[in-house]
Parts: sequence; structure tokens; C-alpha cells
Amino acid sequence: MNAARAILEYHERSKHHLRRYAPGPGYLDWANQPDPFRTYAGAPRVELELAADGLPSHYKDLRAGRWPVAAPLSLHSIAILFELSLAISAWKSYRGTSWALRCNPSSGNLHPTEGYLVASDLPGLEGGVYHYLSRDHILERRARWDAPAPVIAGGVLIGIASIYWREAWKYGMRAFRYCHHDCGHAIAAVSYAAASLGWQTRMVDAAADEDVAILLGLDRGADDRDVEREEPDCLLWVGPSEPPALDVLVTAARSASWSGEPNRLSAEHIQWPDIDRAHEATPKPRTLPASPAAPIATFDLSAPRLDLAAATIFRQRRSAVDFDGVTSIPADAFYTMLEPLLPRPGLPPWNAWPWTPRVHLALFVHRIEGLEPGLYAFLREAAALESLKRAMPRDWQWRKEGPARLPLYLLWPHDAREAAQLICCHQDIAADSCYALGMLASFEGVEESPWRYRRLYWECGMIGQTLYLEAEAAGIRATGIGCFFDDEMHRLLGLEGDEWQSLYHFTAGGAVEDQRLTTLPPYGPRAPR
Ligand SMILES: Cc1cc2nc3c(=O)[nH]c(=O)nc-3n(C[C@H](O)[C@H](O)[C@H](O)COP(=O)(O)O)c2cc1C
Repeated sequence: MNAARAILEYHERSKHHLRRYAPGPGYLDWANQPDPFRTYAGAPRVELELAADGLPSHYKDLRAGRWPVAAPLSLHSIAILFELSLAISAWKSYRGTSWALRCNPSSGNLHPTEGYLVASDLPGLEGGVYHYLSRDHILERRARWDAPAPVIAGGVLIGIASIYWREAWKYGMRAFRYCHHDCGHAIAAVSYAAASLGWQTRMVDAAADEDVAILLGLDRGADDRDVEREEPDCLLWVGPSEPPALDVLVTAARSASWSGEPNRLSAEHIQWPDIDRAHEATPKPRTLPASPAAPIATFDLSAPRLDLAAATIFRQRRSAVDFDGVTSIPADAFYTMLEPLLPRPGLPPWNAWPWTPRVHLALFVHRIEGLEPGLYAFLREAAALESLKRAMPRDWQWRKEGPARLPLYLLWPHDAREAAQLICCHQDIAADSCYALGMLASFEGVEESPWRYRRLYWECGMIGQTLYLEAEAAGIRATGIGCFFDDEMHRLLGLEGDEWQSLYHFTAGGAVEDQRLTTLPPYGPRAPR
């Protein structure tokens, strides 16, 4: 079967239907619950400071491009970059069971995403390839450069990889999708954290999966010991200057001295051949680099209700498990939340995204003061308007709403709470919120370049991360929704054909806290230094 057919078939087979969920394990095999933390035994460990509390950046400034002067690259600033992107942000505990939450969210809190650092010598850190272990907020040195070391000047690379098994253990076939949503959340989390240090982030979009695997050491030795594989996702260049040439990095990684043995996450595994096939059908080859990164620019975005430190917002981000069904927000606050979804050159998180927007929103407005309840469309790129109009029924109104700068359209005034709840696998949060939404992705180009399928989920995850942070800044709370009935959403919108597919849902509202849970600090008694 050719790759394009394989991935489109995976997409169909991993859909949830009203009367039939996508194939999953059917039960939770607690004895084989994957370890949420990958470690590399024998790799030298480098402790990272907890230093983000001292960071002066305010969230409202970062999102508008008003960044601090770039922090010097050092172990100290790299520690902050990880503390505000992939680190643990709190522990929760209930009746003797504890679990960690992180700055980046994850479907089922299973966290398939692993983070890496690739750097030259920095003050306090010897150059090499490092795995980030969020449990301990440390770096594990996987590789040290052999002479001559590659010159990685004026920036560092952050590598991202996924362990599909972590999600497949609970979600079965659909897990491939969730891993890539999570990857998108992680990309955006890195971009925001970097901005708080005054650093630009951009995707090294030319890199092939093979380059990423070689550079992060993912191609080394996991197969023979039945250790769960980490699959390469992407490289992010964080810093003001240009990233070094890929060939230089790959050659250096090949000749570097590697150390560390990955731990095994579960004693036994269930195989999900559909996930292997989906992965094999979507390998990223080397491609020509997209246009050079845009310089930092400021934009006149309306400010969110709360003016909080960026570090506070990044670490207080949480998913609501329940909404009160009464909280509403003014229309202006809603528009303020939507605005950062429009990619503006140089602004986080879209500075990390070199491709044109492919994902747009179909919104269920429930409780927004000054906006009629109903179904709306928010287009992140003007060219989508005609294509979506063509794919949708003629009787949708397409009435322009809100400020001129926001491409927001009312399609159908209606109480859409029941529809939102039904589509989101009957989850109350989709109806009890201020708004819910589905992310409509254009599949154009996926057949020619199947690797774009994974990118569509990354784009969705980045939209999700932006909305999570915006919700915190607006004084409400959000939740990503991976469980939804795909074709019910398409039917509701009257979408014809397969070109537009809803890939991720989302909701935001007034959260009801679960008072039974105790919250503990992320790194226990270890005090900030
Ligand atoms: C891709 C993705 C899909 C998710 N799907 C759901 C969902 O369907 N229902 C739900 O209640 N929460 C969902 N969540 C929220 C996660 O359960 C939550 O992120 C996780 O438990 C960690 O908690 P935190 O976000 O508070 O850190 C999803 C999150 C992500 C990133």
C-alpha cells in the first residue's frame, strides 16, 4: 500500500463513531502502566536550577512581541527554558496516589513527549546532546562531542521525540494522533518559554526524521532490549542567529561519544500495528528550508484581563475537569483570546511554525456576553474562506462578527450546547463552558507529502497551547479534547468530502476545582537557588 493511502486509511480507522469507538485495549492494564519518565542509566547528570521565579517578563508583553533583552546563553538560562516549557509544574495527590502535572499538557496525562538539548560549550555546561528528565529537572548527557566539536553559536537546539507506547497503553490506535497533538503543545511551550528569555524559536524545517534520530541518539540500541522506541519529531532552533548546517550536526553526532541506557517503561506491551504503519507512512524527508525567520516585531494586540508574570501563567496552566455552566466572558475578552491564533511574524508560538496555516476553528459559542450563541468559524488565513464556503452548506450565514481584524463569522445562531457535548464523546465540559471548538484541518497536500499529516496535529497542539495560556490570562480555564466523534462534527457542519477534517477539540470556561485533591510543589523541598 502506498504511504498516502496508508495514512488516510489510518485516519479513517482511528475515528471515533457514535456507536463504535476506535480500537483500543478495552481495559487499563495497570500492571503495565508505562513509566511516565524516561531515564538514561549511566549518563552523567547535570542538575538544573529552579530560577524562573526571578524572571521579570509579563505574559501580556510576550504575546505582543515586547520581549526582554535576550538573556545570555548559559546553564542558568537553559534551566529556565526547560522549567517553563517541559518541567513539572505541580504534583497532585488523592488518597495516597500522586501524579505530576507539567507545563505542557498531555492526553490522559501520559506524556509521550521527550525533550533534548543539543549545544556547544556554554557557561556551566559542556557541549553535547542531553536528554531532559522532567522528574528531577536535570539533563542527562547522552553524547559529548569528539574533536573538532561542531560550532553551534548564538543558540541551542531543542529536540522533540515521542514514545507512542505511552499513549497506546491507554488509547490504542488513536494514540498516534494524541502523541502528535502533544508534540504541538510542546513546540508552543518551548516557543513561549524562549520568548520570556528574549529568544526567538524556529523549526529546523529542512531536517529529515533520520537527521533528528541521529542527532538525538534515537537510532541507538533500543531495539534489541525491547525498550520502547522514541520516534523523532522535530528540532527547534532557539536563539538569535542561524542554526548550523544539518550535515555538520549529523556528522558530529555520528562521531560523538554516547552514553546512557534507556529504561524500559512497561514489562509487557500490546502491539498496535496501525500505529507502526501510520508512523512508517509519514516519514519526513529532507526538504528545502522555508523562508528565513522573521525578526522580532511588536504588535498592537488587546491585552488580556489579568496581567501576570509569564512564568506564573506557564506554570499555573491546567486543564479543567469540570465547568460551572454559568460563567460567561465579555465578547472583547473572547476576541482577545482569539487574536494570538493569527500567525504574526516573529510572535510566539508561530515564530516556530514556518508553514502557512492549515487549521481553522469551528466554534460553539455558549456564554459570551454580546455574541449570539451559535456556530461560528474563525479563519486563520483568508484563503480558507472560499474553500470552506464551498465545502459547507449554502445556507450558513457567514455573517462577519467582531472587530475587523478578526476573521470571525457567524454560521448559524443556535443553542449548540447539546451538539458540542454529543460530539465531544458526551463530555459535559463541552457544553458547560463559555465556548467549545473543533479544529478544522485542510488535508490538501497530505497525499503528495504524507509527513504533513503529523504536522497538522502539531499545528492543532500549538493552537491548543495558545488557548490554554490565553484562558489563564483571561481568568478562566481550558481543556483540550481528543475524544470526539469525528464524522458527527463533519455532519453538523455539513462538510462534504474528505478535504476538511476536524482533528482536535477544545473548550474553555469557569472551572470547578476538585476540592478533594491536594496540590504539592513541583520539586518538593528543593528550594530555588
Ligand atoms: C491532546 C489532548 C487531548 C485531551 N483530551 C481530553 C479529553 O478528551 N477530555 C478531558 O477531560 N481532558 C482531555 N485532555 C486534558 C488532559 O487530560 C490533561 O492535559 C492532562 O490530564 C494533564 O493535566 P493538565 O493539563 O492539567 O496538566 C486532553 C489534553 C490533550 C493535550
